[in-house]
Amino acid sequence: MIRTRGLTKDFATGRKTKVHAVRGISLDIEPGELVAVLGPNGAGKTTTMRMLTTLIQPTAGTAVVAGHDVVEEPQRVRRRIGYVGQGNGAAHTQRVGDELRVQGRIYGLDRREAKRRADELLEALDLAELGERKVTDLSGGQQRRLDVAIGLVHAPELLFLDEPSTGLDPQNRANLWSHIARMRAELGMTIVLTTHYLDEADSMAERVVVVDHGEVIADDSPDQLKAKLAGDRLLATGDGPALAAIAAELPGARDLAVRPGGIELRVSDGPAALPELITAAAGSVRTAEVRRPTLDDVFLALTGRNLRDA
Ligand SMILES: Nc1ncnc2c1ncn2[C@@H]1O[C@H](COP(=O)(O)OP(=O)(O)OP(=O)(O)O)[C@@H](O)[C@H]1O
Ligand SMILES: [Mg+2]
Repeated sequence: MIRTRGLTKDFATGRKTKVHAVRGISLDIEPGELVAVLGPNGAGKTTTMRMLTTLIQPTAGTAVVAGHDVVEEPQRVRRRIGYVGQGNGAAHTQRVGDELRVQGRIYGLDRREAKRRADELLEALDLAELGERKVTDLSGGQQRRLDVAIGLVHAPELLFLDEPSTGLDPQNRANLWSHIARMRAELGMTIVLTTHYLDEADSMAERVVVVDHGEVIADDSPDQLKAKLAGDRLLATGDGPALAAIAAELPGARDLAVRPGGIELRVSDGPAALPELITAAAGSVRTAEVRRPTLDDVFLALTGRNLRDA
């Protein structure tokens, strides 16, 4: 569905200065995949999406999207995709329902189908009661939901979502993701999204691509990334030195820290190591727990920075 080779974008910022926003990204995304692109502010996520959706031209490299080259055949690419940009939005005095129906018609749906899709989306994204409202009168989160509805109205086979859930309250985030999951199941859509909510990426995506400074620095399933890069942590309280001696022998034990009241370490398999530690250290252990890694731990391990701080 997507194939890029050495995709690169430089922006001129002065007569002699430029920003290397994207530095040679090569990616293959298969039909039906849901891929989350993660990275700190300025990593190059939006720039990459804008190249893939034909809004800007690459400086170098190639991209084939839905079977067409983005530079040679941008119109054909556009017809096959949906795009919800970061913070762009409908900003005029149309009414919400009309806006959605018109967008559907632009994408070639007939009148009845456009109305059906618009109604379905208004319902799914909790906008049904706002159908007669003017677009400019919506709150930030309501506008964002309308942006997403517009990107979905023609049920594209390939959907790009740039931070679709930013600015939504928890209830509406959940609604959005369940609607996307349902459309994906029904239509077999391919979805590429960015988000700064790592828990969303973890639960929604079976593949995570981490971008930093315009380059891909990791590309795997959330579980693999967590297992490879972060590992489980084991925390125990009790007699620290005695616990440490036992913990050091656990499979894959590393980063062992000993404190007066206990220990902390990384192990390859936390749920297996926990009972082993408790059994071996029976007299010395007071409490013990396993902490499974999060994608934030992965990001920290990859870049030395926290995704949010970064
Ligand atoms: N039109 C432009 N002109 C100059 N520099 C740009 C332009 N667009 C983006 N950049 C720069 O390119 C880099 C990548 O920006 P991009 O918007 O792709 O980041 P991002 O990963 O989407 O970040 P965020 O998480 O903040 O959305 C940044 O340093 C940004 O300042
Ligand atoms: Mg961005």
